[in-house]
Amino acid sequence: MLQKFDTRNENLYIFVNGQILPRNEAKISVFDSVVQGGDAVWEGLRLYKSGIALLDRHLDRLQESAKALMFEHVLTTEEIKNAIRMTLEKNNMTEDVHIRLTLTRGEKITSGMDPRLNNKGCGLIVLAEWKPPVYDNENGIKIISSAIRRNSPQFLDSKIHHNNLLNNILAKIQANVAGKDAALMLDDRGFVAELNDTNIFMIKNGRLSTPHATACLPGITRDFIIEISKNHGLECEVRDISLTELYNADEVFCTGTMGELTPINEIDGRSIVNTSSTNIMKIINSLFREKISAYCSMP
Ligand SMILES: Cc1ncc(COP(=O)(O)O)c(C=O)c1O
Repeated sequence: MLQKFDTRNENLYIFVNGQILPRNEAKISVFDSVVQGGDAVWEGLRLYKSGIALLDRHLDRLQESAKALMFEHVLTTEEIKNAIRMTLEKNNMTEDVHIRLTLTRGEKITSGMDPRLNNKGCGLIVLAEWKPPVYDNENGIKIISSAIRRNSPQFLDSKIHHNNLLNNILAKIQANVAGKDAALMLDDRGFVAELNDTNIFMIKNGRLSTPHATACLPGITRDFIIEISKNHGLECEVRDISLTELYNADEVFCTGTMGELTPINEIDGRSIVNTSSTNIMKIINSLFREKISAYCSMP
């Protein structure tokens, strides 16, 4: 799905390194690590009426990613929450908002890869936009499997939520060229990892499964789905899944903060046909809608 420009976002205020600036003045230095080497970590957050969904889990993952990359002088979670709160207040935002939170290694004294060139501490960008879920969650999406593999821990651990997104972008380009909505990425062994921007689940004969989080992002929505399904008596099997299994699944769906739960109705030209008498994704989706507000909090 190609997102369209939302005119409500024309006059946004954006938090950049301690200042809240109008959209056209919100800029970072050309010496910033994210420009020099994609050397940054990020989170996507969604604001509902009752607050930001699973906020502490997102901020914990951000801190863990920063620690793995050995960022120095990282802002505390409280400081990051303050920046988010100030940004939302300045924009009068209360719901239907997606926040792109970027923590960079900060500005360098000169261009170069070496983190020792950074002596100014981390940079923080809070970009909050009006953005309802981005996929067509009513009608579902069509996907292709991509030739681009998702990184395994041998290359760049998918548990670091970093800004080196070129693998995923190359996969998305393949989907665009094929005229489909998203790209399915496999791991280095050929098993399903995730889509270029969301996690994936399948249901077959009433059993829910999802790939191990070895070559996929351990998504916060993914974990939440596993949790609420389990509490409802539907254990999710975390296992290796092959493409053939997906083609023949009764239901396939993807999950993420940006798009929530989205049905996948075609993979590599094969329609996903539900031959069972149940619609389990519908049950999980209702559970998600019912439970999510209890997991929202204000920063
Ligand atoms: C590659 C990838 N997979 C999955 C997700 C979904 O993760 P979450 O549920 O934490 O939003 C994201 C979101 O940033 C992502 O970039």
